[in-house]
Amino acid sequence: MKAEVIETIREMVGRTQRLRAKGKSIGFVPTMGALHEGHLSLMRRSRAENDVSVISIFVNPTQFAPGEDFEEYPRPIAEDVRKAEEAGVDLIFTTTPEEMYPTGYSTFVEEERVTRPLCGKTRPTFFRGVLTAVLKLCQIVRPHRVYFGEKDFQQCRAVQRMVSDFHLDVEIISCPIVREDDGLALSSRNVYLSASEREEALTIPKSLDLAESLVSEGVRDPAVLVARMTELITEIPSARIDYIETLSADDLSTIERLQGDVLVAVAVWIGKTRLIDNRVLAIG
Ligand code: PAF
Repeated sequence: MKAEVIETIREMVGRTQRLRAKGKSIGFVPTMGALHEGHLSLMRRSRAENDVSVISIFVNPTQFAPGEDFEEYPRPIAEDVRKAEEAGVDLIFTTTPEEMYPTGYSTFVEEERVTRPLCGKTRPTFFRGVLTAVLKLCQIVRPHRVYFGEKDFQQCRAVQRMVSDFHLDVEIISCPIVREDDGLALSSRNVYLSASEREEALTIPKSLDLAESLVSEGVRDPAVLVARMTELITEIPSARIDYIETLSADDLSTIERLQGDVLVAVAVWIGKTRLIDNRVLAIG
């Protein structure tokens, strides 16, 4: 099925107003493009659960700090359109930084709790950019349901917090991480990895397997878990750990003991590529 590409905010707003007036339900997957199976799984779910399935492809400059990979971020637009069509998407919204953030733009969303640990420490302006973009995209697309992947677990929690705090009339649906057969979590940034780095990156999911088996052996001290995971990852020459942390999966608060739903979250630089991954352990 052919998807329609809509390139301006004005056109997209008009389209979603008409769809809502006709009583159509709208499912939405916000993306920065470079679509992989993780994104496509969200699109297929959106397709199955809504009358109309919309995606956005917008590499959002406000979530990149100076020196990060905004310029290099892959933008294979023709390929993305084809993949989205195959996943049953009806409308593809593309816009530009100039249209989203015109001269004089000065309003941003700042969440002050769940965005503080993990990625918020080393990328202090990242979630401000993400939440601002997600709020704006929701205002433009006016979806009933928005789909996010749990690889970006902290992003899911931050968006859920914003939706609740701002009384937004939208349902946030978080969906399981999609992995390669060998366990590496899918990410648009995996294309940056050389063949040897790709191999070394497998230590990241392996460290999460290790965490899971330590917990099943009875380990309940977060420091022990983190130390063992650190030991494993530092064996890799190209790896530099950004963080390895265990937090409450519910609200990302600090925990003293591995109990209940625990998020084990990892961010590691493999050469010049920063990869994140996580696992939620339900610990009795
Ligand atoms: O997860 C992403 O791709 C981005 O953070 C998002 C949600 C599209 C906002 O720019």
